[in-house]
Amino acid sequence: MGKNIVISEKIEKYINNFSFKLSRVQKEIIDYNNTLGTEKRMQVAISQCHFLHLIIKISNIKNVLEIGTFTGLSALSIALALPEDGKLTALDKDKETSKIAVSFFKKAKQYKKIQTIVKPALDSLDELKNQKYDMAFIDADKLNYKEYYEKSIKMINKGGLIIIDNVLWHGEVVDEDKMDKFTLNIRELNEHISRDERVEQIIIPLGDGMTVCRVL
Ligand SMILES: C[S@@+](CC[C@H](N)C(=O)[O-])C[C@H]1O[C@@H](n2cnc3c(N)ncnc32)[C@H](O)[C@@H]1O
Repeated sequence: MGKNIVISEKIEKYINNFSFKLSRVQKEIIDYNNTLGTEKRMQVAISQCHFLHLIIKISNIKNVLEIGTFTGLSALSIALALPEDGKLTALDKDKETSKIAVSFFKKAKQYKKIQTIVKPALDSLDELKNQKYDMAFIDADKLNYKEYYEKSIKMINKGGLIIIDNVLWHGEVVDEDKMDKFTLNIRELNEHISRDERVEQIIIPLGDGMTVCRVL
C-alpha cells in the first residue's frame, strides 16, 4: 500500500486552487468569517463545500436538512448544488449568525430554496419528525450528535445520506491520552455508527473528518 499523504495547509490550498471555483457569495462568507477571530474555526473547509456540492449533484438529492448553519457557508454550498425546485431546511439556535446567513442567502439569490429555523435543533427535529429528506448534514453541538443522528435517520429516505462533520476531532480520536468529554463523545458516536446495521458508512479525511452514511 502506498503511503497516505498528510494534508498540510499548503497542500489544502493547492487542492482548492485546482478544484472548481467558489461563487462570489461563498467567498464573501469566508471573508466575513475571517473577520471573526477564533469563531472562524466553526466554518466548514472549502474542500468540504466542494464535496457537498458534488455528492448532491451525483446523487440527485433534492431535499436536505442541515443541523448547524452558523453564517451559512455549508448551507449556501448545499443550496447552490440543489436543483431549482430543491429545498434546504437549515437549523441553528443562534439568532445573530442566522440573520447574517440569511443576508448571504438573499445576496446569492438562494433564499427561496432555504428555510431557516432558529431554535435549539432538538426542538426543531421533533417538530419536523414527519418530514422526509434525501440528505442530512450534521455540524452543530458535538455532545448532541448521537441524538441528531438518531432523530435524522428516521427522516431520511432509503438510499439517502447522513453526513456528519468533525468525526476525527482534530485527530484526537486516536490519541489515547485524550479522555475529555468531547473526544469520548465523538469516539462513542463513531463506534455507534460502525455497529449500526441501518447504514453503510465511510469516514472521509476532509476538513475535520466527515462520516458519510448511506441509509439502507
Ligand atoms: C460548527 S458551526 C456550523 C458551521 C456551518 N456548518 C458552516 O459551514 O459554517 C456549529 C453551529 O451549531 C450551532 N448550534 C450549537 N448548538 C446548537 C443547538 N443546540 N441547536 C441548534 N444549533 C446549535 C451554533 O450556533 C453554530 O452556529
